[in-house]
Amino acid sequence: MEILKLLVVDDEAAIRSGIYRALRDFSVDFPFYEDDFEFEIIDAESGEEALSIIEKDKIDIVLLDNKLPGIEGIEVLEYIKRKSVDCAVMMITSYASIELAIRATNNGAFNFIPKPFSAQDLKSAVESITKHLFLKRMTRRMKAEGKQVRFEFLSVLSHELKSPINAVEGYLRIMKDKQAGDDIAAYEKMIDRSLTRIESMRGLIMDMLDFTRIESGKKNRSIVELDVIEIAKLAIDSIYPVAIQMNVEIIPDFPETLIMKGDGSELEIIFNNLLSNAVKYNKENGTVKFTIRKENESAIFTVEDTGIGMNEKEQALLFKEFTRIKTRKTKNISGSGLGLSIMKKVIDLNSGNVFVESEADIGSKFTVDIPLHTIA
Ligand SMILES: Nc1ncnc2c1ncn2[C@@H]1O[C@H](COP(=O)(O)OP(=O)(O)OP(=O)(O)O)[C@@H](O)[C@H]1O
Ligand SMILES: [Mg+2]
Repeated sequence: MEILKLLVVDDEAAIRSGIYRALRDFSVDFPFYEDDFEFEIIDAESGEEALSIIEKDKIDIVLLDNKLPGIEGIEVLEYIKRKSVDCAVMMITSYASIELAIRATNNGAFNFIPKPFSAQDLKSAVESITKHLFLKRMTRRMKAEGKQVRFEFLSVLSHELKSPINAVEGYLRIMKDKQAGDDIAAYEKMIDRSLTRIESMRGLIMDMLDFTRIESGKKNRSIVELDVIEIAKLAIDSIYPVAIQMNVEIIPDFPETLIMKGDGSELEIIFNNLLSNAVKYNKENGTVKFTIRKENESAIFTVEDTGIGMNEKEQALLFKEFTRIKTRKTKNISGSGLGLSIMKKVIDLNSGNVFVESEADIGSKFTVDIPLHTIA
């Protein structure tokens, strides 16, 4: 349990005591953090009193009314910003004008809660400001320690693993209690679903491993002369079962052989990710054109699909860790958002480039070029 100091600044005693009652037994927990947060509530009836408390005490969260008898709430906020006090501020105010809202936001207020509010409104607002404060502090700390990526990993990992684990656990409990009777056949669907969820968890963990290995420079590379075409064919074979399900046709256009110096597992990462996306984000009965050719001293791979495509804004986000484009069309497609960022790192390792052309609802084309012989 961690205690956060929460300062309530309001000239109305009834509001101060209402907030006290609502929050005194309230706590906020975080899915991937063992501790939960509780609140020590301190109150002030004027801006002046608030400032002297903030100067003396280490306050974490301030709930700040704007209309106060002496100096106004917004001035307290400006003081907090000027002095870079490490706390999060939420304005509680009855008639928030747009000017006030802008001024408050410019001065770093986290949000507004309009008066009158219910205990529930207050609790959810306090929950979100607590999470915001925690993430801000944690991110700062991790950045300072160079652990930012690790922290993001943990958040995504725990978030992404939680729902499949819950699902599988639910099915196992049903089976344990024999809720559908004694016949094992009655549980077949649940078993299948559990296996699918486990498969996707494994995919995520594998992605994470690839990523950390490359990121930390610990990836063992074995550079040999290899035939790109052989690896490409294997990649097609492994995506085939998914492609069949969506009736997506993969059309290869390859020369007989293409020999280059490289690491086979790295080419696999490139092909698997491009093909997996081209199938996953395709439409039923769509196609994927997969071409490989040699141009000057480079190998050029293109993977072109007839899928949901992306607009320019969405394309700009690609290759960054944990990017997932959230739209109605991608809502039911699972993925960790790591695939392309891993691929980009691998391409960088090989002094290559990647380009995207895409149009929403028409499809996408990824082009990768990799020099054939630069690797010693
Ligand atoms: N061919 C494509 N067509 C449309 N959108 C795509 C395509 N490839 C990638 N995207 C978008 O880019 C996002 C990032 O892709 P990426 O491969 O990095 O992650 P993912 O597919 O979500 O997860 P993972 O590959 O780790 O299973 C996807 O979530 C999707 O929204
Ligand atoms: Mg992917």
